[in-house]
Amino acid sequence: TMGKQLRIAIDGPASAGKSTVAKLAAHRLGYIYCDTGAMYRAVTWWALQKKVALDDDLALAKMLAQLEIKFVPAKEGQRVFVNNNEVTKEIRMPTVTNNVSTVAAQVSVRKVLTQRQQEIAAGGGIVMDGRDIGTTVLPDAEVKIFLVASVKERALRRFRENQAKNIPTSLTKLEFEIEERDRKDSTRTVSPLVKAEDAIKVDTTSLSIDEVVTKIMRIVENKLEKA
Ligand code: DC
Repeated sequence: TMGKQLRIAIDGPASAGKSTVAKLAAHRLGYIYCDTGAMYRAVTWWALQKKVALDDDLALAKMLAQLEIKFVPAKEGQRVFVNNNEVTKEIRMPTVTNNVSTVAAQVSVRKVLTQRQQEIAAGGGIVMDGRDIGTTVLPDAEVKIFLVASVKERALRRFRENQAKNIPTSLTKLEFEIEERDRKDSTRTVSPLVKAEDAIKVDTTSLSIDEVVTKIMRIVENKLEKA
């Protein structure tokens, strides 16, 4: 797939499969992959370490000014570093997962991370996943996908992921946490999770990873032919 270096925005609720398919699509296209959720998670992890209150927007922004968040491509996807400390595993721990919505609701934090994401995407040839990529970060993205799946299916996927990583969890608790995170992400005042008007909705509930990637690749190829 040659030619124009597109910007592909993939948004949707927690555990809809965004990062898995975004990574695979980026690989097939030879594009950069950027997981913006990992950036919010990295800030949350650092704030927890430094005991900065997670709802203190200004203190977080001050901390963030001194914070370098770096992605390093690796076989398993990508490694995440904060000021040269590797936090790849740490940012997936339940303490971070259950606190990240608070940090993601802070105006100044969003402003700074949005700017950094726009810089990362400036050259095109990128697949970026998150909640507000198609609406706020890259409103002019050539391709916008909105991935959804039922709460039950998403909880089950997270459950299996956690099992594989030896993180103990209960399925009922996961369902509850996903609903809670959906609610917080969709009702916050800054950049809430909403489908961009021009985004294509893809329901992954009964689709395999491969089927989702194929669907996205068709949408991208269609765009490339018209470009
Ligand atoms: O996709 P994830 O679970 O790693 O995202 C972590 C949190 O960050 C989630 O609660 C929503 C928030 N987030 C956001 O507000 N905007 C983004 N672009 C990406 C993630």
